[in-house]
Amino acid sequence: MGEKGLADVVAAQTSISDIDGVQGKLWYVGYDIDDLAQSSTFEETVFLLHNLRLPTQEELDGITEALVNDREMTTFGLSLMETLAVQSSPMSMVRTSISAASAHDPDGWDTSPEANYRKALRLTARLPTRIAGYHRMRTKRDVVPPNPKLPHAANFLAMLLGEEPDQDAARALDVCLILHADHTMNASTFAARVCASTLADIHSSSTAAVAALKGPLHGGANEQVMKMLEEIGDPDKAEDYITQRLGQKGARIMGFGHRVYKTEDPRATHLRRLARSLGEGAGDTRWFEISERIEKAVMDQKGLYPNVDFYAASVYRSLGIPTDLFTPVFAASRIAGWTAHIREQYADNRLIRPDSEYIGPADQRYVPIEERTE
Ligand code: SDX
Repeated sequence: MGEKGLADVVAAQTSISDIDGVQGKLWYVGYDIDDLAQSSTFEETVFLLHNLRLPTQEELDGITEALVNDREMTTFGLSLMETLAVQSSPMSMVRTSISAASAHDPDGWDTSPEANYRKALRLTARLPTRIAGYHRMRTKRDVVPPNPKLPHAANFLAMLLGEEPDQDAARALDVCLILHADHTMNASTFAARVCASTLADIHSSSTAAVAALKGPLHGGANEQVMKMLEEIGDPDKAEDYITQRLGQKGARIMGFGHRVYKTEDPRATHLRRLARSLGEGAGDTRWFEISERIEKAVMDQKGLYPNVDFYAASVYRSLGIPTDLFTPVFAASRIAGWTAHIREQYADNRLIRPDSEYIGPADQRYVPIEERTE
């Protein structure tokens, strides 16, 4: 059997993204993540992941309009959200609402590539509205309707916080959404592709992906990072905290380490810069300073680099996003990558069905229950 956790096993061929874990590089369709973070937008990135090329201006206008037109929750979605806002945790809400969305998708059970593309854009367009609506309902405030004049990232912050974000905040979230949009065969994308390989529909496959993202070893890490920053509370306490945590057998420092990167996650580089600039802009660099001291302590004591989740925590806090919505925000970006991989799987499919290595007992003789002593 190969290494546990399918490490280094190639599970599929893809044209959507690639990583060089030694060099610390990430590309979407051959475009370096540094160039995309610098110059692209989330809307353009969604087009790129699904169409495997950058859009013309006309095509970018078209996908932007599609993502705007499909932002509104349906009456069914709103009524469901009223229950979820009271009963469900944020990631359970995301999982349930994506699953329920299949009940009222205008394309119904049409599984043509064109219909699946429309469904993918609908899921991507509406997830921010679901997350913001959920938060407004659970905090007993009026739901803020989507603003068709605002870009995707700015609109999310406006619906969540009740006022339009400034340019820096809007751009910071747009860059975060670009950075989180895809990442080769991570656990949630793999879950999506396994599900899609059975020819299950795009909503079922996306639901499988959300379920996988929820775990603290994957998407749930960003929330745990914020809780760690709050627990430490003071930059001067960071080193002792890390020493104590690493002294606990099997302990993991959330936001550090990666299956693929053997050097800095290139996304962390951008997120560290954003965390610093947002903190300085708000006149509150506390979370950034604690983060920097943790980073140094973990490198000194364990030789590990921060991954995408580490500085994302202080960026999202600076943007006013509640901690338990950090992973839903990750999902609001990664839904673009998941649905692109699902469509890629459909386009050249073979059921994903690996083998297993049996290590249990063999040649057992069946003993009638009356003769069993244990
Ligand atoms: C994401 O795969 C992706 O691409 C995911 C992602 C994406 O964009 O989709 O990048 C997003 O999920 C980022 C990762 C978020 N998770 C965390 O931050 C949780 C903390 N990280 C670890 O649990 C761990 O690093 C993983 C899960 C990310 C990777 O796990 P691996 O590859 O299975 O590595 P491992 O757990 O076997 O650890 C290998 C060694 C161990 O040393 P030994 O015990 O064998 O001596 O490295 C150590 C570990 O102790 N180690 C850590 C550590 N990560 C690895 N030690 C302390 N803290 C950590 N965070």
